[in-house]
Amino acid sequence: MDYQAVLSEVWDAVRPVVGQGRVATYIPALAAVDPRRFGMALATVEGDVYGVGDWREPFSIQSISKVFTLALTLARDGDALWKRVGKEPSGNPFNSLVQLEYEQGIPRNPFINAGALVITDRLQRLTGDARGTLRDFLRAESGNPSVDFDPVIAASEADHGHRNRALAHFMASYGNMEGAVPEVLEHYFWQCSLAMSCADLARACGFLARHGQRADGSRLLTRSQAKQVNAVMLTCGTYDAAGEFAYRVGLPGKSGVGGGIIAVIPNRCGLCVWSPGLDARGNSVAGVEALDRFTTLTGLSIF
Ligand code: DON
Repeated sequence: MDYQAVLSEVWDAVRPVVGQGRVATYIPALAAVDPRRFGMALATVEGDVYGVGDWREPFSIQSISKVFTLALTLARDGDALWKRVGKEPSGNPFNSLVQLEYEQGIPRNPFINAGALVITDRLQRLTGDARGTLRDFLRAESGNPSVDFDPVIAASEADHGHRNRALAHFMASYGNMEGAVPEVLEHYFWQCSLAMSCADLARACGFLARHGQRADGSRLLTRSQAKQVNAVMLTCGTYDAAGEFAYRVGLPGKSGVGGGIIAVIPNRCGLCVWSPGLDARGNSVAGVEALDRFTTLTGLSIF
């Protein structure tokens, strides 16, 4: 398949949609991004990379980081992890507090904020440096040693992180935080602030297309664990829009409020699209449209 031609066709088709939606405004550093940006990249399991638009431009990965912290933690902890966090879609916004009280401090899944905080807590206990472990992993998988945190975004997250603090303390009250809440939050804010391009992220999610095998051929996840992460992405990766994303795109995917979305085609490639205008549920409008067009054009959904 001529991936470069397909991406060009997708880019042409989504041009009218680019700029629609609203950029995330909950922190000033994200509100300043131009909503007319658009980039898309595809990295094959063999290591070839294709891209269009702003595909080499770093952006704030935000909640896309939750896929990688989950994988790193699952690799070390195995099934024990699922005692502290569920794997069902939440049907609620990503930062909702309501469900957590009904479910006694056990978050529905690892991709809503509460669940991601549990994962970061565990990764911190396991490694002593959750954010550093994540950054080093992403540098290795993307093949880009300059992948790094954006300290302005990290500071802004901390300044406006009241809801995440509330979620973390609430879980601590149920005994579902191992470490000190401020330390866990610090690592969480920094993980969200990582800046990567579509090319970096398309390569970095390649291990999920290779059934758990890393870029250097070593194994991070068992085949079964890679299936588990992909399945949780499909059912929970776009929050209360996961049903619509599965319906339109038909791939495991994970979005972030920076406007990025990664998606995985097992055995074939990792994909990443970035456009900062978000819909009401926090997913990139042009990003979802582009992935919808891509799978419709190529027939490469998992269904
Ligand atoms: O926790 C937060 O509010 C952000 N740092 C991450 C949010 C995010 O990307 C959720 N996703 N769409």
